[in-house]
Amino acid sequence: MKIYNFKEISSTNDFARELLKENEIVCVTAMHQTKGRGRNNNTWYSNFGNNLNLSFGISHSETCTLVKLANFQSIGSLAVKHVLEEYTGKSIFRLKYPNDVYAFDGTDYKKLSGILVEHGFMGSECTYSIIGIGVNVLEQNFPVEISQKATSLKLLGFDCGVDLFQNLLIDKFSLLLEKSESVIFELWQKELNIIGKEIKIIQSQNQATDYDSKDIFIAKKLKSDGRLVVINHQGKEIIIDNGDSIRYNLD
Ligand code: BTN
Repeated sequence: MKIYNFKEISSTNDFARELLKENEIVCVTAMHQTKGRGRNNNTWYSNFGNNLNLSFGISHSETCTLVKLANFQSIGSLAVKHVLEEYTGKSIFRLKYPNDVYAFDGTDYKKLSGILVEHGFMGSECTYSIIGIGVNVLEQNFPVEISQKATSLKLLGFDCGVDLFQNLLIDKFSLLLEKSESVIFELWQKELNIIGKEIKIIQSQNQATDYDSKDIFIAKKLKSDGRLVVINHQGKEIIIDNGDSIRYNLD
């Protein structure tokens, strides 16, 4: 794996895509991103040098199944969670469907890491995958909109340098990449620990649905392509693929 460390770039995901033209597998980091982005067109916030902004880029020479593509996302969040647990020795970290990492700060679970996976296609063939990972390491000042929802290793009381976290993460990610699809799926399912939990679905305004917005669903099954099947008391099943549309208890 070729590793590129930048001081300031637009987004490590974009640079990983470019650098994949000359490499099979790359890792790109930046001390600052001027256009760091999150899922659902959100901006990913990070002050200069405080956090890990990292993207792995992987070219595919063979046909990739949907299961394999879902696997890449799981590998990212599993690598982050495992590094956090091994570095801190604490079990305060949780995966939130599908691949956010939250930490318990003594009062609440708050977001510590997020993953943005982007794939490139030629026709129906996926030719590359970019796994962009943001981890709040040293950040102490979040914008007001997210200050109640986000945390960092520093705010949790752990003094880990960004470089150290980066090295640990690259090693862990590389190890997990070697594992089979089924092993990764099982690990992800175990770490998510969502099956049987009550799920509240957040409906967007004017969204037409054939269930009541107050309905409580139960997480029934994780599909191997990463989607979540939930069911209500009337037996109505819904398939979820966007973690931002559900709420549940992480404990
Ligand atoms: C999310 O939770 O919304 C996903 C956040 C992903 C942020 C990372 S930081 C490195 C990479 N580059 C980006 O522009 N985004 C991802």
